[in-house]
Amino acid sequence: MKMDNDIANKIRSKVDIVDIIGERIPLTARGKNFFGVCPFHEDTHPSMSVSREKQIYTCFSCHATGNVFTFLMNYEHMDYKEVLKYLGDRVGISTSGISVTRKTSKYDSWYAAYDFSLKYFQNNLNSNIGKQAREYLSKRKIDEEVIKEFGIGLSLESRDDLTKLLTSKKYDLISLNRMGLSNDNYDIYRNRIMFPLYDTFGKVVGFSGRIYDNSDQNKYLNTKETEIFKKGENLYHYHIAKEECRKEKSVIIMEGFMDVIRASTIGIRNTVALMGTALTKEQIALIKRLSNHIILCLDGDDPGQHATLSIGDTLLAQGIEAKVVALPNPEDPDSYILKNGKERFENLVDSAIPFSDFKIQKLKEKVDFHSDEEKAEYINRVLQETVKIEDTIRRELILKRLANEFDIGYNTLEMRMNSLLTEKKDIPKTETVNLPKKEEKKDKYKKAFEQIIYFMLNNDWMITQVEKEQLVFPTEVMRATCNEIIYYYKKYGTINIADFYTYVQEKENIVEFLNSILASSYLETTNKDELFLYFKVAREYNQKEEIKRLTNLMKKEMDPIEQAIIVEKIRKLRLGDSEK
Ligand code: UTP
Ligand code: MN
Repeated sequence: MKMDNDIANKIRSKVDIVDIIGERIPLTARGKNFFGVCPFHEDTHPSMSVSREKQIYTCFSCHATGNVFTFLMNYEHMDYKEVLKYLGDRVGISTSGISVTRKTSKYDSWYAAYDFSLKYFQNNLNSNIGKQAREYLSKRKIDEEVIKEFGIGLSLESRDDLTKLLTSKKYDLISLNRMGLSNDNYDIYRNRIMFPLYDTFGKVVGFSGRIYDNSDQNKYLNTKETEIFKKGENLYHYHIAKEECRKEKSVIIMEGFMDVIRASTIGIRNTVALMGTALTKEQIALIKRLSNHIILCLDGDDPGQHATLSIGDTLLAQGIEAKVVALPNPEDPDSYILKNGKERFENLVDSAIPFSDFKIQKLKEKVDFHSDEEKAEYINRVLQETVKIEDTIRRELILKRLANEFDIGYNTLEMRMNSLLTEKKDIPKTETVNLPKKEEKKDKYKKAFEQIIYFMLNNDWMITQVEKEQLVFPTEVMRATCNEIIYYYKKYGTINIADFYTYVQEKENIVEFLNSILASSYLETTNKDELFLYFKVAREYNQKEEIKRLTNLMKKEMDPIEQAIIVEKIRKLRLGDSEK
């Protein structure tokens, strides 16, 4: 572990966090620091600061904090090892042979159960018993390679095959029920073609099973929502799309996983699927991390078009105008590609239109153009959509088209649009603006101790001082942090915040605590007088606590002599107090 930490620190010292974050988010220099819009919460204000000197970032709004490793892990959804490799390659430091102690999770046994089930399903499909299912897949033009790539398998008719296997592997029924693999002592999935569902890191966290004979059950059966499978925080294919969207500089959203699988067979992999749910806030945040160039490619039927309008509107309200691929009704990407092939689908994607244009087209479909009233209504609705478009040239084009189409004066339309624009400006924004949170009133002791810990991370002198004074920190997490700092300092002979972050990354309580103090704005004051003042406050607190402890002790003490000894101790402490 020490070796690995050394390599990590070496890599970290060779990259500049300002470059790495700056490549992903526009940063502007202000004073010593750089500022940008924080990608870890919904915001339009530059509340994230990046320090070149300290090599850390801090968001004053959501308190996201860390070094270049944590930034990449969170922003790119990479794990620690991937980040080390990525940065190591960049600065020419070999990371081969590095062994990273993987974070053990209390759900490790769950992941193992899903992995076991995955292999079991895959085996079934490959065996004799899977003949009919294989025929079904082959009829749907899903070949061997795709079956392998997407981990497709088969659950059996038998009512408890998998449950029996898993219980023989020491899984108890209660757990299996919680995992969504069993129902009581029966298998949940019976006689279905099984598609593994992955989390954003690529771990199997559930399944979707499709009927393949003519049974009249639900077409797909999905793993229920579990502790590690939060449907609204997941998207199908996300772990693959992460890489692909960076390359392609766009992300395509589809409805079903069959669509994604089909697109993959023609080499289009910058895709994610919604899996039959409405798009959640969390999913939008995930998608925005893949790319700002979002292409909606939902089904061509009414529900698909309806969903396109709703998702497009949601994105527009967040300042993103998606593009829309219009599939003919009732095709979905899967059927369209099968019927028309790679090239025509690619052309269709290339000719995706801006969402506003799509919406205007849709509005038009319902209008009875013999009625002046409906026409006027339509024109007004179009103008309402037009004011949402930022690009003035596109606005003008739309007005010109309307003017021609309905033989209305351009000026009339422009006047109307301008009055809508002023109205829009006057409406107070409903979204809450995330200004830096007002520094909560912290009591002076807490502040003093936090300040001391912060300075321990910045200068060795402070660490020695804390040890010398034998300062006792008031909370568990503060004591733990202090111990780790002293330990780190003794081991490495020096300390800085950025590397200390790497060192404690597995200790969630410490990381959380560091984040909370680093997001405070009072930290930067540094002169020795002030530091001594903090020490004085901290000492005073230690004394008070000791007096409290002794007073309690005294109250419980029965022996009058012992009592007197304690009283004397308290008196001395108080005296010491007033001397200062
Ligand atoms: P679709 O009905 O469009 O699926 O539902 P599809 O991709 O065309 O499937 P095939 O081609 O008939 O096999 C889109 C998505 O909605 C979810 C699935 O995740 C599916 O991919 N869904 C659909 C369910 O969860 N349950 C269902 O019964 C149907
Ligand atoms: Mn479909």
